[in-house]
Amino acid sequence: MRLFISFEGVEGSGKTTQVEMLHNYLVEMRISVLKTREPGGTALGDRLRPILLEHSDAPCCPLSELFLYAAARAQLVKEVIAPALDHHTVVISDRYVDSTVAYQGYARGLDISLIERLNRSATNGCMPHLTVLLDTDPEVGLNRISSRALTLLGCGKDRLESESLHFHRQVRKGYQILADRNPDRFFVVNGRRNKEDIHQQIKHELIRRYPESFPLPIPARNAG
Ligand code: TMP
Repeated sequence: MRLFISFEGVEGSGKTTQVEMLHNYLVEMRISVLKTREPGGTALGDRLRPILLEHSDAPCCPLSELFLYAAARAQLVKEVIAPALDHHTVVISDRYVDSTVAYQGYARGLDISLIERLNRSATNGCMPHLTVLLDTDPEVGLNRISSRALTLLGCGKDRLESESLHFHRQVRKGYQILADRNPDRFFVVNGRRNKEDIHQQIKHELIRRYPESFPLPIPARNAG
């Protein structure tokens, strides 16, 4: 089947865990599936990721940041996402175009229509059929990240995670506006629920939307 699912959310919203859980579920169902992430997923994207996320002495202005994310995305679509969809492999991406609108648009303040045009060119119009938004209070997400950073000694917050609470609130607001404007594509989940609950909600949404591809488990028959 031709199905492209993206996951979005503020820092620490739990989307990477959900990507992993959905990927495992589809593998169990013997559905051909590929998971990827942004920025990354290609040799070029993996080289751009540290440039975008690590703290550095080299300044990176908002426009440079925007173009670097767009470059990583153009490569990912051409090299990975479009060929996989053509082969009827389900694609799950940890972040995609909406991240740029939320972060570089609503939070950094760059022109949203410029971002939308750039996104369209970089992706050649390739849009997710379903976008799962893990809607989480940024304070909660950032606290999760801080405790993770403390656990993995020496692993502090990255360049974007270190932005102000106001910045992250703008990101969340941006996502909420996007979800309101695209109700058919977005599925909004409360990111404070436990991870198993969230996974079940996402599975049910897939079954609701694509009953032929994700049939309900057949209830076991009573013996006798
Ligand atoms: P993550 O993979 O851990 O979520 O890190 C990616 C970071 O990059 C995260 O802080 C969000 C940010 N980002 C943007 O600012 N714009 C984008 O277009 C994308 C894909 C990510």
